[in-house]
Amino acid sequence: MLWSVFNKMRSTIWMLSIFGLVVNPALSEETIAPGPFTDTECVNCHTERNPKLIRQWRQGPHAADPGSGCGSCHGDRHKDSNEKARKDQSCASCHEGPAGHSYSLSKHGVINHLNEDRQDWNQPLQRGKYRAPTCSYCHLHNGDHGNTMAPSHGPEVRQWICSGCHSPRYVREQFANGKRQLEIADLKVKEGEELIASAVDMQSGALTELKQRLIRHRRNVLFGVGHQSPDHQWWHGQPALDGDLIRIREAVSEFHRKAPLERPFSRSPGDN
Ligand code: HEC
Ligand code: HEC
Ligand code: HEC
Ligand code: HEC
Ligand code: HEC
Repeated sequence: MLWSVFNKMRSTIWMLSIFGLVVNPALSEETIAPGPFTDTECVNCHTERNPKLIRQWRQGPHAADPGSGCGSCHGDRHKDSNEKARKDQSCASCHEGPAGHSYSLSKHGVINHLNEDRQDWNQPLQRGKYRAPTCSYCHLHNGDHGNTMAPSHGPEVRQWICSGCHSPRYVREQFANGKRQLEIADLKVKEGEELIASAVDMQSGALTELKQRLIRHRRNVLFGVGHQSPDHQWWHGQPALDGDLIRIREAVSEFHRKAPLERPFSRSPGDN
């Protein structure tokens, strides 16, 4: 009688544990609820556990945008949440413009694309664990939730990251070249903006559009340099800026030629 009750209990315990209702006491304090969770729930629960991570996120580029909370990179469940966030797809949906495009044309992007099935995505984003850098390897390195590549961290951080895979000398050359490229681009932008400013009376949507193009093409040079994409540097970047300058010069000289005729009461550009 007693024996059969004991046996019943044993099988009940066994059944309960199969359904996960009896938890191994060693794990019980840290059983991770599977989700799904809302972004607010993620933040609330993780603020206590990972205060540094949440601080970085709040000060970083993503917290300000209501659409890019925790779930946009991690998904809304715990299962595979790290693996998901480490893959390029987690960024590409929002950064498919020049940011994503420049990277996918770079050697890094091409290697990761070809290597995706062979890479072990359980590995943290640390030195020696990846063959080529993914978006998050560079920008959210080793659990960083800000932007590891932000200029405010200084060049040392970036150079340290690159030199996990390249020789320090190669990395220094890349950065020196990148700096030169950006200086040249800045000179072009400055010249264009000064020309536009010289036609200050000109209320033209065309000039505003030309100014926006300058800024967009300057950003392409930045992506060419930052993402090692020759296409963005040498096609969508520097030559596009040269084209902008030609168009701005034409538009401004057209304005100076026509202005005195079309608007007899306005100052002519020579007057000061
Ligand atoms: C009720 C509390 C709670 C909520 C809500 C919660 N988490 Fe967690 N999370 C935990 C605990 C506990 C762990 C395991 C211990 C740890 O790593 O801090 C964990 C671990 C993680 C990990 C690390 C997983 C790993 O394999 O190392 C990630 C990533 C994560 N959570 C993201 C999220 C995201 C994204 C959300 C919202 C969709 C979320 N969490 C919601 C409690 C929570
Ligand atoms: C822009 C994408 C992105 C966003 C947004 C993001 N994460 Fe992450 N998170 C990552 C990546 C990538 C990793 C993996 C880091 C690694 O492997 O070194 C990670 C890792 C983690 C980990 C594991 C950290 C560790 O040291 O093991 C936790 C916990 C986590 N994230 C929670 C959150 C929470 C909570 C939020 C929202 C406040 C959030 N993440 C928002 C990309 C993101
Ligand atoms: C849900 C959309 C979304 C996802 C997913 C997302 N981002 Fe963003 N990201 C944004 C928005 C919005 C901004 C702020 C506006 C901007 O600069 O484009 C931003 C800003 C950034 C910036 C800073 C840009 C600057 O001008 O300072 C970087 C770097 C960045 N994201 C990298 C990533 C990486 C890497 C991932 C994947 C791990 C990722 N993002 C995933 C929407 C997203
Ligand atoms: C090899 C490292 C590396 C990889 C891989 C990488 N980035 Fe970048 N990224 C950079 C650097 C360096 C910059 C230039 C930062 C600067 O000077 O402002 C940059 C710039 C950016 C910016 C603009 C930031 C700004 O200040 O305007 C965004 C957005 C961005 N990256 C997103 C991405 C996304 C999305 C991916 C993947 C599709 C990616 N990055 C892959 C290193 C990398
Ligand atoms: C996780 C390893 C890794 C990191 C980190 C990394 N790279 Fe690379 N990089 C590679 C690999 C692998 C290649 C392809 C090498 C080849 O072509 O043989 C490559 C190629 C390149 C190329 C193209 C070379 C060519 O022949 O066209 C440049 C430029 C470059 N990396 C610069 C950088 C810079 C700058 C950084 C830091 C912002 C960086 N890399 C970070 C692994 C890495």
